[in-house]
Amino acid sequence: MSVPAFRARKRQEPLVMLTAYTARMAELLDPHCDALLVGDSLAQTIYGLPSTVPVTLDMMIAHGAAVVRGSRRALVVVDMPFGSYEESPEQAFRSAARVMKETGAAAVKLEGGQSMAPTVAYLSARGIPVMGHVGLTPQAVNILGGYGARGRGEAEYARIAADAAAVAEAGAFSLVIEGVVEPLAASITDAVACPTIGIGASVRCDGQVLVVDDMLGMFDRTARFVKRYDDLAARIQQAAQGYAGEVRARTFPDSAHLYSAPAQA
Ligand code: KIV
Ligand code: NA
Repeated sequence: MSVPAFRARKRQEPLVMLTAYTARMAELLDPHCDALLVGDSLAQTIYGLPSTVPVTLDMMIAHGAAVVRGSRRALVVVDMPFGSYEESPEQAFRSAARVMKETGAAAVKLEGGQSMAPTVAYLSARGIPVMGHVGLTPQAVNILGGYGARGRGEAEYARIAADAAAVAEAGAFSLVIEGVVEPLAASITDAVACPTIGIGASVRCDGQVLVVDDMLGMFDRTARFVKRYDDLAARIQQAAQGYAGEVRARTFPDSAHLYSAPAQA
C-alpha cells in the first residue's frame, strides 16, 4: 500500500488501521490492515508511562524499524513524539527524515491543527508524507487537562473543523480524527479531500484506527470508544497460572518436551 493508493481510498472501501509496536505483531496484523501505526501510545502500551509526553524520537525509531521489518503490504506510519517537531518546520524535517531513513516507514504522523499547517506543507514538499491528527490530541494533555471528548462546545467545534481544514489543505495525505462527536467527524470528512481515520469519531470517517492492545483487551480501563475484540489479559494470566502450577508440581517439563537420551552404543 503506497501513500497515493491510501489517499485514493477517500469515499471508497473503509480504510483499516491498527497500531503496532513490534515485528511479530506487525506480521500478524499486516494481512488484515491497510496501514499500521507505530503510535506514541507505546508510552502506555509498552513502557507503562502515564502519558505520551516523555516518548523520545529514539524510542519511535526503534519500534518503527521493528514494525517495518514485520510488515509486508500495509502502509507503516510512525508517530512524531512530543518535542521532536513543534519548534519549527526545520526541526520537524530533521526529526522526520531520521524516522524515514532509520525505520524505512512510508510516512509520519503529527498532532496539531492550524499552528502545524506550515510544518505539514514543509514536510510534504520535501518528500515526507504526513498524516495529521486533530480533535483529542494526547500530546496536549497538559493543556487539555485530560482525555475527554473534544468539540462539544461551539467554539471548540469550530476550531477543530478549522484545524482539520488547515492540515488537509497543507497537504496531509490523511487525517486522524480522535474523540469528537459524530456531526463534527462527518462534516470534516465531507469537507477535506484526504481520507479521515476515526478513533472515537463514528463510522462517518473514511476509516478507523484502534490501539491494538486496547482492542485485544490487554487493559481493564479504556476509553468509551474502545471495543474489545478479545480478552487477552485474562488469557495471558490463565496461561501464566497454568505454567506456574505445572512447574511447582514438577509436571512440566513432561516427556513430550524433553530431548531423548542419546542412543546406546
Ligand atoms: O498513538 C496512537 O496510538 C495514536 C492513535 C490512537 C491514533 O495516535
Ligand atoms: Na499518537
